[in-house]
Amino acid sequence: MVLGAQFGDEAKGKISDYLSAEARYVVRSGGGPNTGHTIELPEGKVVLHLLACGVLRHGVTGISGPGMVINPFQIRDEILDLERRGLRRGEIVISDRAHVLLPLHELEDAWEDDLRSKGDPAAGLGTTRRGVGPAYEDRYGRWGIRMGDLSRPAIVKERLALLYARKAHLPNLPPMEELAGRLAEVGGALAPYIRSTETLLWDALGRGESVLIEGAQSALLDIDFGTYPFVTSSHPTSAGAMMGSGIPPTELDSVVGVTKAYCTRVGAGPFPTEESGERGEFLRRVGGEHGATTGRARRCGWLDLVLLRYAARLNGFTSLAVTKVDVLGGLDSFPVCVQYRMPDGSLLRDAPPLQASDLAAATPVYEEIPGWPEVHERLKERLRRDGSPALPPALRRFLEFLTVETGVPVEYVGYGPHRDETVHLDPTTVPRRGPGLSAWSG
Ligand code: IMP
Ligand code: MG
Repeated sequence: MVLGAQFGDEAKGKISDYLSAEARYVVRSGGGPNTGHTIELPEGKVVLHLLACGVLRHGVTGISGPGMVINPFQIRDEILDLERRGLRRGEIVISDRAHVLLPLHELEDAWEDDLRSKGDPAAGLGTTRRGVGPAYEDRYGRWGIRMGDLSRPAIVKERLALLYARKAHLPNLPPMEELAGRLAEVGGALAPYIRSTETLLWDALGRGESVLIEGAQSALLDIDFGTYPFVTSSHPTSAGAMMGSGIPPTELDSVVGVTKAYCTRVGAGPFPTEESGERGEFLRRVGGEHGATTGRARRCGWLDLVLLRYAARLNGFTSLAVTKVDVLGGLDSFPVCVQYRMPDGSLLRDAPPLQASDLAAATPVYEEIPGWPEVHERLKERLRRDGSPALPPALRRFLEFLTVETGVPVEYVGYGPHRDETVHLDPTTVPRRGPGLSAWSG
């Protein structure tokens, strides 16, 4: 399983793509068109919103899983786009239990966020406005339409009538008959892809085939464990990803948490280590920190170990993938937040406070980390050829520091956007565990 350890955009897509070389199935477990997984192939850049990265590899099946909310028009276009570019290589499968995200959910998403920010602009969540929140609301309110329903126009019409009755307050709803017609048409186009995916995966696991679960969004955006209410509407955690894929927890071998060497966030919500000035601008520029889905400039700041420790324990990370280390290359030193000082003077180390406003009031206590040299082309060549022995010593010391501070070994390091710009560390060259969990819980 590959999961985001921060607020999203940790380059999960890149790590999932890298690991998908070893997989027979890749399944996306949650989220919807709020996601943008960017993958740099030799043929060019691909951004996947609704398809799993496995679809980019021959011999791999990419599954858009049961926990997702899927805009059927968008996934059809995404498939067509890959076909046009000659990049559709794996098999594509869509879960019949994934929910249909409708155009009215997009309207509702904008309507809701406008309503939230009407009295107080700071109360808006800054959602992606792709309809994801309202689609999950309808799913849990039992008003939803599932992908497997699309082949049954009578069922879709029944469900739509209920939905329209419930959403009469929304302005500019498309005529229901017209929407029903469009859904019947797109349902026909998608029919070859839609099937039961939990049974497919159980059979695959029974045959001993390997399955990679590709998480979307991230721990701190989890509906329950994230910075509520500034969160997404699904469970981008390891437990949530089991539910969202239909695979039992007892099948899970490893959970890779993906973290950048610094931190970003899009949308509203607390972000203690945010740098609004020149240093934030530096990270944004060098890191290319603009949203893959909405194009919004990402908020940038430093790595936050309080949040990373929390994410590590919440998800049971068995290893970390540390990405974008090239962005910090060439700095003399850079800060990492090791704990928070709260307004009452107390220190927090292992978990953020419950209230988003309290987290926003936390002052990061930084440790200054010695930097490593610029990751220029010559170093990249050495890393590609020799792997982890070519890692600069200062970078290696940073990775060891992360292992000691989080209790989780670093297994992968991303030093550039391309598929092959990933180092796999031999776990024996990394201290397996630092002081570990027991040291934190005292
Ligand atoms: P929603 O998921 O569109 O409802 O947006 C809720 C919050 O989650 C907003 O702050 C979004 O910017 C954020 N969010 C949702 N999906 C992603 C993602 O894939 N990457 C980063 N942030 C995301
Ligand atoms: Mg993204």
